[in-house]
Amino acid sequence: MTSKIIQQGAEALILLDKNIITKKRIEKSYRISELDDKIRKLRTRSETKLLEKASKIVSIPKMIKSNEKIKEIDMEFIDGKKLSEHLDKYDLKKQKEICNKIGDNISKLHDSDIIHGDLTTSNMILKEDKLYFIDFGLGFISSKYEDKAVDLHLLKKAIEAKHSRNWEILFEEIIKEYKKYKDSRIVLEKLKTVEKRGRYKK
Ligand SMILES: Nc1ncnc2c1ncn2[C@@H]1O[C@H](COP(=O)(O)OP(=O)(O)O)[C@@H](O)[C@H]1O
Ligand SMILES: [Mg+2]
Repeated sequence: MTSKIIQQGAEALILLDKNIITKKRIEKSYRISELDDKIRKLRTRSETKLLEKASKIVSIPKMIKSNEKIKEIDMEFIDGKKLSEHLDKYDLKKQKEICNKIGDNISKLHDSDIIHGDLTTSNMILKEDKLYFIDFGLGFISSKYEDKAVDLHLLKKAIEAKHSRNWEILFEEIIKEYKKYKDSRIVLEKLKTVEKRGRYKK
């Protein structure tokens, strides 16, 4: 095998072989082995389903195969720029354009009741001006406005922390496009309550 490890995350190992990414959910020795096996199998299955659904709606890596027995998903390698590392390098005009694309993608996913679950710029790759969303590992299907609001809330927190210089402008651009989603007004109202709750928790 010539594949190389490109990331060893908490839950998965990411391998690259030529232009194929393999996401392999690894064993957790602190869990009872049968339970661990079941959890990894279910998460692989859930991510596969979401990738299939999302592929009809936004740009994501093409899935090549999924094997829940060995807890692996093979997909196309998006050889582009990860936004967590590159967003701040562009001029503000381009940053805003990218944020419009982020908002557009989220509006489409939410309109189809797909909650991404981990909307950070580490899970977004720009390739030839096309924006790809990756990592549906924490995603789920829900029509609840609250779940959609929490999805946005996590993104807002992530942008604030990671792209602090212009974060307010950037989030504003995301929301501008998100408003295309027919129920966005209700979700944005919910977002206010989610944020208040967040403050009281501290
Ligand atoms: N299809 C892909 N194309 C390019 N890079 C990828 C792809 N899938 C994963 N990666 C890289 O591996 C990292 C971790 O993958 P991800 O699916 O986000 O797993 P985790 O659940 O560990 O965050 C990503 O941040 C990205 O750098
Ligand atoms: Mg990730």
